[in-house]
Amino acid sequence: MNHDQDETDLYQQKPAIVCRDLRKSYPGKPVVEAVRGLNLQVNRGECFGLLGPNGAGKTTTIEIIEGLLQPSSGDVEVLGRSWTRDGEAIRQRIGVTLQETQLSDKLTVRETLDLFRSFYRTGITVDVAMKSVSLDEKKDARISQLSGGQKQRLAVATALVGDPELLFLDEPTTGLDPTSRRQLWEILRAIRDRGKTILLTTHYMDEAERLCDRVAIVDHGQVIALGTPRELIASVGGDHIVEFSVVAEQHSRADAFRLLALADVTSVRDEVDRWSLNSKMAHHTIPALLSYLEAENLALAGLTTRQASLEDVFVKLTGRNLKEEQTA
Ligand SMILES: Nc1ncnc2c1ncn2[C@@H]1O[C@H](COP(=O)(O)OP(=O)(O)O)[C@@H](O)[C@H]1O
Ligand SMILES: [Mg+2]
Repeated sequence: MNHDQDETDLYQQKPAIVCRDLRKSYPGKPVVEAVRGLNLQVNRGECFGLLGPNGAGKTTTIEIIEGLLQPSSGDVEVLGRSWTRDGEAIRQRIGVTLQETQLSDKLTVRETLDLFRSFYRTGITVDVAMKSVSLDEKKDARISQLSGGQKQRLAVATALVGDPELLFLDEPTTGLDPTSRRQLWEILRAIRDRGKTILLTTHYMDEAERLCDRVAIVDHGQVIALGTPRELIASVGGDHIVEFSVVAEQHSRADAFRLLALADVTSVRDEVDRWSLNSKMAHHTIPALLSYLEAENLALAGLTTRQASLEDVFVKLTGRNLKEEQTA
């Protein structure tokens, strides 16, 4: 084995990404501390998601890792290398899809990919790239004629032509219709299944839940929870959420301590117009709840149960609601 081969093997053993105490402040009055001591390790071959609300620092973080932004302090290693010493080696091995990709409207799909392919010494053919994102039928269409979903798939293809070991995607499905989102998820799964590493950001909990092997929940520039979606959901205490409401004027007569004492309830939240219970076993909790309401003469107005989701993890950790923040 020659020396080069030894070195390549050495790099292969390193994690895909390591961030240590990453910080980034933007100047201004007041200074914006967008990333505040973020630690992260992304392993080879996993699809890793940075999940958090708008303004959490996801784009800042991913752009630092991509080498597009300088951190204020902290270390970043990408594929075992540092941007300061081995920038070009990293650049040849990664593919980047930005939050908003501005592709030239006048170019066709094929011309766009030819251009991006020319940036890399090695890679896949433009035909293979087009096929992998199902744009082969659109190869002669101009960018201006593509739908939002097609443009987003093309943006992914521009990141794929260099056959990257590591693919970055910032909010890949924001603004897409449900069908296009699913289509893109399938494409990303196929890339992951070929042994590539993916780092993506998203503010969609369902996207992180379905697509990512591991997720870091980011809030105010820090990782507040880390694990597989399953582990994170289990950490809220029980897989089920039982939500109920009583007629409005009786809401405050329900008692949080009494609810917490019901069978298999692990936590209780007063959602103002309803109560939300975390439960280990919904089929134990519900009969106990109904007995309680009857004993207290409270009139049930609504009852739903659902599987706990990453949304519930975020609510539990922050007391805030990720969904409401997006629309606020
Ligand atoms: N170029 C910039 N100058 C000043 N503040 C910025 C800049 N870019 C982002 N920010 C601020 O940094 C914080 C994190 O932003 P960002 O990394 O884009 O978060 P996210 O991608 O999670 O929405 C926000 O408060 C945002 O307003
Ligand atoms: Mg962003």
